[in-house]
Amino acid sequence: MKPAILLIGTTGQVGRDLSELLPRVGEVTALDRQRLDLTQPDEIRRAIRASHPAWIVNAAAYTAVDKAESEELPARAINAEAPRIMAEEAKKIGACLVHYSTDYVFHGRKDAPYEEDDPPNPQNAYGRTKLEGERAIQDSGAAHLIFRTAWVYSTRGRNFLMTMLRLATQREELRVVRDQIGAPTLSREIAKATAAILASLSGREPGAASLPAASGIYHMTGAGETSWCDFASAIVEKAKTAPQDLRWFSEATGGLPNIARRVLPITTSEYPTPARRPAYSVLSNARLNRTFSIHLPDWRTQLDSIFTRLSA
Ligand SMILES: NC(=O)c1ccc[n+]([C@@H]2O[C@H](COP(=O)([O-])OP(=O)(O)OC[C@H]3O[C@@H](n4cnc5c(N)ncnc54)[C@H](OP(=O)(O)O)[C@@H]3O)[C@@H](O)[C@H]2O)c1
Repeated sequence: MKPAILLIGTTGQVGRDLSELLPRVGEVTALDRQRLDLTQPDEIRRAIRASHPAWIVNAAAYTAVDKAESEELPARAINAEAPRIMAEEAKKIGACLVHYSTDYVFHGRKDAPYEEDDPPNPQNAYGRTKLEGERAIQDSGAAHLIFRTAWVYSTRGRNFLMTMLRLATQREELRVVRDQIGAPTLSREIAKATAAILASLSGREPGAASLPAASGIYHMTGAGETSWCDFASAIVEKAKTAPQDLRWFSEATGGLPNIARRVLPITTSEYPTPARRPAYSVLSNARLNRTFSIHLPDWRTQLDSIFTRLSA
């Protein structure tokens, strides 16, 4: 029998892709903000008790990194308090909570990929609230999978890819920071990896990981590393050769053929933002690879995949 899955946050980047992929794994009840507002603790409890799932997958979060500096309380309600309640309820019914966290829990002083056990030390309010969410889940005693991801983008909604494409049709040149290093990750790859892990843990094959042994934190990002500036350059280069009939591409660019000629590197100090960001936040995916035999493609391969007609 297929397991019951409660998917929370279906309108976000990862949430939309999960809504498409998780029905292959289980019987999905999908809730958007209108059906479940995460600032309302009683609604969270009611939703979980009503669906009594084997898996609770929380793709919702307060993700406005700069706005969180002046809205830390609402950010904390959604990123820390709501997951705490989900974990409490998961523990009561023996469900596993799947949750996403961020590279921004790290300060960014390292110069080699962060491991899951490296000490976190967030530099901004968003990172602090996400770290509190991780800790609340860990402290609950519920079975959990926390996937820390980074630089998430998709071919829908608001994200770095779509912003760069829009700006590239409006400006001759783009100025983008080159002293922040990370790993761009396509939301579809996060959803694919999540669905594969849930499928494997639900219908366990001999030798596959099991819950609660697999319970814990995992890094889940595109392989490799780059800067925002080099990511922008790669986007602009791909856009120049993109088929104009790619639906998402036309939506982002208005179908315009004129794409910026240059992407110029600038420093973080030349582009001040309310939230401080890590200079280096590459995450090691080794634990994910080892435990679940899941390997997310290199960030360039992920980017290539969305510029082919097949994925339109
Ligand atoms: N985006 C990134 O670059 C990034 C980087 C690292 C980690 N992550 C983590 O990855 C996960 C998925 O991120 P994402 O990029 O897919 O997020 P996203 O596109 O910003 O979507 C956020 C989702 O949360 C929902 N939400 C916000 N406040 C809510 C509330 N009060 N009640 C119910 N739902 C609410 C939103 O609903 P509405 O559509 O109604 O607003 C939306 O569905 C999050 O845990 C995030 O912290 C993201």
